[in-house]
Amino acid sequence: MRALTIDHSASGHLALGEVPEPQPAAHQALVRVHSFSLNHGEAAHAIPGGEAGTVPGWDAAGVVLRAAADGSGPAAGTPVVTLGANGAWAELRAVDTDWIGAVPEGTDLGAVSALPVAAGSALRGLRRLGPILGRRVLVTGAGGGVGRFAVQLAARGGAHVIAATSDPSKADVLRALGADEVVTGPEGLASIEPVHGVIELVGGSELVAAYDTLAPHGTLVAMGHASGAGEHFEFGTLFGNEGRHNRTIATYFLLDDAAGIGTDLSWLASLVARGELDPQVGWRGDWSRAAEATEALIARRVRGKAVLDVS
Ligand SMILES: NC(=O)c1ccc[n+]([C@@H]2O[C@H](COP(=O)([O-])OP(=O)(O)OC[C@H]3O[C@@H](n4cnc5c(N)ncnc54)[C@H](OP(=O)(O)O)[C@@H]3O)[C@@H](O)[C@H]2O)c1
Repeated sequence: MRALTIDHSASGHLALGEVPEPQPAAHQALVRVHSFSLNHGEAAHAIPGGEAGTVPGWDAAGVVLRAAADGSGPAAGTPVVTLGANGAWAELRAVDTDWIGAVPEGTDLGAVSALPVAAGSALRGLRRLGPILGRRVLVTGAGGGVGRFAVQLAARGGAHVIAATSDPSKADVLRALGADEVVTGPEGLASIEPVHGVIELVGGSELVAAYDTLAPHGTLVAMGHASGAGEHFEFGTLFGNEGRHNRTIATYFLLDDAAGIGTDLSWLASLVARGELDPQVGWRGDWSRAAEATEALIARRVRGKAVLDVS
């Protein structure tokens, strides 16, 4: 079969060529991949630092070619959206059935391929905040792939959503996705009323400033580190007095904590099918353009998700 493999001598560390077909384990279905999406962590870390010759890729959507031998998961012919630690960027992918979501017939498989890591982690990060109905939730890095899902899902969960972006030109789209307030820069974060929860995607000084917005008993979920910067908390920031007691910083990483994600992916795909969740695909092209797409994502020229179609 054809696949993109990691090749550190090639442009973007990626080469398109022939590799052996995957051999599914008993609990895995074999999926014919239609489309896959790119994630910041792949473009910035997993591909440049990956093992040469391996097939990368976390997110893919396609159709089940052969159901799992143990009888779990969807039947052959079912449109699906899939998550895995690798192997998505190929014509065929073997996937654990627990990490497969069913997709309603007729849904654009390119659109749902944007879901697994970005929407899956946004959903699970929001769950870490507990009930958000009627509560204030801040999303940082809101204009990125994960952030746009987090804004939509937090609004759907009944939160008053504050979107923090470094780019004021994204304010209108963030409001259209459900943000009640849009703020920019450190002054913007410093100006907001206390929040119950934070989905933090940028790291560095943004995380420190976002932590400062937490109300007592509030939780910040440190999910992303797009800035590449470390965090420095000034003396006193972590004091629990003056109405700032019991604030929590939690971490979450989807690929290490994805049990049952197939059920979540089925639900997310049903929202896309009904037009109730917008994957915000900002770049789409043939998979031969994978290096171009990863470069555009890292250079912050993709507004939302980048999707590649397997021709
Ligand atoms: N924990 C998990 O399971 C998990 C899952 C998925 C992603 N992540 C991580 O979450 C972060 C966001 O992922 P993503 O897929 O949304 O990435 P993305 O699409 O590239 O978006 C990143 C966003 O972060 C903001 N940003 C602010 N300062 C930045 C800087 N110096 N460099 C780059 N971006 C900056 C930008 O938002 P504005 O334009 O709005 O300012 C940008 O759009 C990444 O660190 C990624 O690795 C973690």
